[in-house]
Amino acid sequence: MSFDVFLNFNGDCRAALDFYSEIFRISEPAGLMTYGQNPGGSADADKDRILYASLPIFGRNVMFSDCPSGEPFAKGNNIALTLGCENVEEIHRIFAALSDGGEVYMPLGKTLFSELYGMVRDKFEIAWQLSLTAFQCAAAFSDLAKGRFSVRRFKPQPVENEKLAVILEAGRIAPTACNYQPQRIKVVTGADLAKLDACSPCRFGAPTVIIACYDNTVSAKRSTIDGKELGEIDASIVTTHLMFAAHEQGLGSCWVAHFDPAKLKGLFAFPENIVPIALLPIGYPAEDAKPAAMHTKKNNLEDILL
Ligand SMILES: Cc1cc2nc3c(=O)[nH]c(=O)nc-3n(C[C@H](O)[C@H](O)[C@H](O)COP(=O)(O)O)c2cc1C
Repeated sequence: MSFDVFLNFNGDCRAALDFYSEIFRISEPAGLMTYGQNPGGSADADKDRILYASLPIFGRNVMFSDCPSGEPFAKGNNIALTLGCENVEEIHRIFAALSDGGEVYMPLGKTLFSELYGMVRDKFEIAWQLSLTAFQCAAAFSDLAKGRFSVRRFKPQPVENEKLAVILEAGRIAPTACNYQPQRIKVVTGADLAKLDACSPCRFGAPTVIIACYDNTVSAKRSTIDGKELGEIDASIVTTHLMFAAHEQGLGSCWVAHFDPAKLKGLFAFPENIVPIALLPIGYPAEDAKPAAMHTKKNNLEDILL
């Protein structure tokens, strides 16, 4: 775990870097990047502003940045304490605890510079930035598995298209029987959410719902033995990939089987061969979203081993 300081400026970050570099006899800042160099793009007015730079001051990494122009900025309130966390479970735990009674500025999620990064102002108005360092980015599966829980209360905040793309990619590459890839996925947002609400009480306010289906004209069958349809298993594996990818992106989800499949097929005009298997509401968990009591009630290993 590392613990550093992050200083924010309003367009005069470069002057501050020069000022402190001279005082502390540092030849040049490390990792300097302007908003204009950000591959994600930036507003024209921000092109020359500093997105990131750091100075090693007496062995302590002090990070510097300009805020984007037009963003609220108060001098005297422009310091953030910066934690580099060592594992996914820890960063989620600390972020959730700091957010309790505070204000989340940026929920934990993947960024250009960190697999998991978030900003929060705690209830004492102290600003924090948390990130997972490069070494920790190989997020252990067990961290993801233990950190995830069914979220049943979402913020209305939309899911960014970039995050949705990462999630759908995880569904695209999931294993399927004979690699026939029968998964078919419908992403529902906006006005169409009303159709979903007519089929299930379990959207929980999520701004995006994925309907995971399979095409039964494409899916594999265990035909030489008992003819078992394998499409449902494929769609379930795909949904599991989507669920963990959402969690990795700092989003919540809940697997939902409680829906009326016939009604859903009708309202979304799915052809006969498309079989809906699961709904996955996805979004940013509400501040008070917590794991249900059921989440921790798991059998012991000896109870499940045959
Ligand atoms: C196949 C399946 C169907 C589920 N259907 C629903 C559902 O319709 N509504 C709901 O609120 N949760 C549903 N869940 C979520 C489970 O209740 C939840 O995963 C379980 O209680 C364990 O809690 P956790 O996900 O927080 O670990 C479903 C989960 C699975 C795997």
